[in-house]
Amino acid sequence: MSSILVTGGTGALGRHIVSLLREEGHDVRVLSRRPGAGTHIGDLRTGEGVAEAVAGVDAVVHAASDFRKFGGPDIEQTRNLLAAATGVGHLLYVSIVGIDRIPFRYYRNKLTCEQLITESGVPHTILRATQFHELIAAMLQGVERLPIAPLPLDFRFQPVAAVDVAARAAELIQGPPLGRAPDFGGPEVLTMAELADAWRAVRSRPRRIVRLPLPGRVARAFRAGYNTCPDHTDGVQRWAQYAATAEGNAYF
Ligand SMILES: NC(=O)c1ccc[n+]([C@@H]2O[C@H](COP(=O)([O-])OP(=O)(O)OC[C@H]3O[C@@H](n4cnc5c(N)ncnc54)[C@H](OP(=O)(O)O)[C@@H]3O)[C@@H](O)[C@H]2O)c1
Repeated sequence: MSSILVTGGTGALGRHIVSLLREEGHDVRVLSRRPGAGTHIGDLRTGEGVAEAVAGVDAVVHAASDFRKFGGPDIEQTRNLLAAATGVGHLLYVSIVGIDRIPFRYYRNKLTCEQLITESGVPHTILRATQFHELIAAMLQGVERLPIAPLPLDFRFQPVAAVDVAARAAELIQGPPLGRAPDFGGPEVLTMAELADAWRAVRSRPRRIVRLPLPGRVARAFRAGYNTCPDHTDGVQRWAQYAATAEGNAYF
């Protein structure tokens, strides 16, 4: 049994990592800013409580992120975590497929976090995954009450169940540090039009959709599918299966 800290262990991905590692008998700590939500209260942005949460653990899974600010605070958060984690045997960072090819602000910040980890001297594994089913669902739920939902119908995604990524992350953190792990993708590449159709077939919403024409390099990259990794169709659960069973919203 190992002692493992999961940052972001209350999030859409992290909660599955926590459950899986606990099922395997590990002593799992969960850092959260919210009292009662994890085992340790702390804030990666200020560094408060981080050293206490890391003290004595064998490994850290870093799955915390502040998307609301395009991940800007993630850089300081990762710095603070690394400063506290100099003695750990293995740190796993969850990243995103294609962040070096898509000039999206959140992705640029994640790339900086990857670089900080690579240069830190902490034995590590960086696992890049494609977009989660939960994220695509949240995007569709965000527009489903509109009379006409505008969506970038020609964007490509390779959505993957967060629980499938969690299983891979849990497997990797129990093994040796790999540096960069192979990318991890969902079972199929689909356009947003196909994703929306499968979602509507089950939920009957959004009632009407219209193509949102997005200009610029970021949109071009998503249309080209730079965020996909068709050579790695690792995830088991397909989007249509997820759509048929999804309850609630993992994000808001
Ligand atoms: N979503 C996707 O499609 C996707 C795809 C590939 C990779 N990823 C990556 O996977 C990771 C997890 O994503 P997710 O979608 O599961 O995220 P999420 O559901 O938004 O969860 C974010 C987590 O970060 C924690 N957090 C944020 N700011 C914090 C701070 N200052 N101090 C401590 N904890 C903080 C939150 O904890 P509390 O609120 O409890 O404090 C929460 O547990 C991220 O690195 C993301 O970039 C996501």
